[in-house]
Amino acid sequence: MAREVPESSARSRVCNVLVIGAGAAGLRAAIAATQAGSQVLVVGKRDRLDAHTVLAAGGINAVLGTRDPQDTWEQHFADTLREGYFLGHPRVVEIMAREAPDAVRELAAWGCRFATLEDGRLDQRFFGAHKYRRTCYAGDYTGRAILYTLATKAQELGIPVIEDQYVSRLLVADGVCFGAYGFDLVSGERTVFEADAVILATGGHTRLWRRSSSRRDENYGEGMFLALEAGCRLMDMELVQFHPTGMLTPEEMAGTLVTEAVRGEGGRLYNRDHERFMHRYDPKRMELSARDRVALAIYTEIMEGRGGPNGGVFLDISHRPKDEILEKLPRMYRQFIEYQMLDISKEPMEVAPTAHYSMGGIAVDPQTHATEVVGLYAAGECTSGLHGANRLGGNSLAETVIFGRRAGAAAAAHSRESEVQRRSKTEVQEAADELQRLIKPGTELARPLQRALRNLMWEHCGVVRDEAGIRDGVRKLGELGNAAQTVDIRPGEEGWFELAHVLDLRAGLRTAEATLLCALERRESRGAHNRSDFPALDPAMQRNIYVRLERREAPLTIWNEAVPGLPENLKAALTDDELPVAGRLLE
Ligand code: FUM
Repeated sequence: MAREVPESSARSRVCNVLVIGAGAAGLRAAIAATQAGSQVLVVGKRDRLDAHTVLAAGGINAVLGTRDPQDTWEQHFADTLREGYFLGHPRVVEIMAREAPDAVRELAAWGCRFATLEDGRLDQRFFGAHKYRRTCYAGDYTGRAILYTLATKAQELGIPVIEDQYVSRLLVADGVCFGAYGFDLVSGERTVFEADAVILATGGHTRLWRRSSSRRDENYGEGMFLALEAGCRLMDMELVQFHPTGMLTPEEMAGTLVTEAVRGEGGRLYNRDHERFMHRYDPKRMELSARDRVALAIYTEIMEGRGGPNGGVFLDISHRPKDEILEKLPRMYRQFIEYQMLDISKEPMEVAPTAHYSMGGIAVDPQTHATEVVGLYAAGECTSGLHGANRLGGNSLAETVIFGRRAGAAAAAHSRESEVQRRSKTEVQEAADELQRLIKPGTELARPLQRALRNLMWEHCGVVRDEAGIRDGVRKLGELGNAAQTVDIRPGEEGWFELAHVLDLRAGLRTAEATLLCALERRESRGAHNRSDFPALDPAMQRNIYVRLERREAPLTIWNEAVPGLPENLKAALTDDELPVAGRLLE
């Protein structure tokens, strides 16, 4: 029998600023809010040092000029906007490019062990489609180094981080967010988190694809779903980055990231015929072309029958000295030994594209990352506006710390300036009832439905899409949604994970729907969004696509708006405003 946990047993925790998500964006936001005088509480689903950020590998971008002194923040701005096919918000891109150097220096000052040159300056490596070397790194575990640094800083500041918390609903009354409702994944204990301001730092939705660089139980679009239900807009959900190189075997590791740092350190791509095929796709930049083009090139090689035995192509770094590989790519070395018994200093890796990053997400104010719901902020991968249609590798870690800090400071200011604290017993009761309604016997199981959803998105909204396929995906999604109504959930002594699985499924179904609808609406090919039935980029579609819910359970409303114009003072940065479409395959 399902165990009843009545709402009256929910405990209450009060703070000024509640941060949902304990990755880099969440922790940086928490630090900023604390330094601004707020009482902050961070809640996360996983162990404190195991947020998705630990998987970020190759680096964080900042114009420091260590290796290439001619680099400028304006060039970083131009590379980011242009390679995003001009769908990024110019102000967001400007902030990122301007503030990245200080953000990286701050991390170094807080103890982050970035690689350095002999003179102590931070080293910088090449990443794809950057004009200059501006990617700072810690081996190939940069995200982990940053996360640990931020966690240490948060601990020094006495910021509480509560693990194993699943947030099922944001508490909103009269358009004001006043907290969140959640439960403990181990004990089932429920908590009403009351706060003046809430920051979502909950990651993306790329676990919705069969081959994904996200692990189980993360990145189902949970925060995007919460924001949508609270009344926010989501933007450009169809813009999902497929990283060119993910592992293929063993099955349980399929999709795991093979860092771009391999190519940054000289790795070469070959097809089955030992042809270095990037010659045909981007002869100038070769393996260091932009991610969308390398992913599409690999996809094409595979689809045209030039793939390897496991359906991938070959990434080879074995021409580099073993000592260098061990120093610069230690995680990759271990990963392939561990899971394939393959020594990458001797043999190539077989790789294929993997869903890696949500470039779309919650629509936020460029400066503060406030959403349209009063008191609700968002930072990191769950947001939109920076990457446009193709993210440059290394920009996401920069995004987490820069906009995490801004969201934290803005949330703290909001708390300070709030005269009244909005609360609603009805809303809290509704959150409790909603959770309770899910706990019931049924005929379906959440895990197989999650798997079916991931297959659906891979097949109907993968690297290359078309209208018929997407429409078929929408139809199948409806069937999955119906099946999801009858999931069997019986949490008990062994944990409340089943309930979390069904909530992940609920979030995934909604964010998948948003993604499919936006993918239908974007009738062109641009960056990571390849429509085989609309193979050309359409200049008239230099627009952002939005969805919102008029009310919970309602169908999504969809529309598009022109991307905000480039401010006069930034026009000079884009000396050559040609779109980077040369070498695309679908044209
Ligand atoms: O390939 C990588 O190391 C990924 C970096 C990124 O997505 O920024």
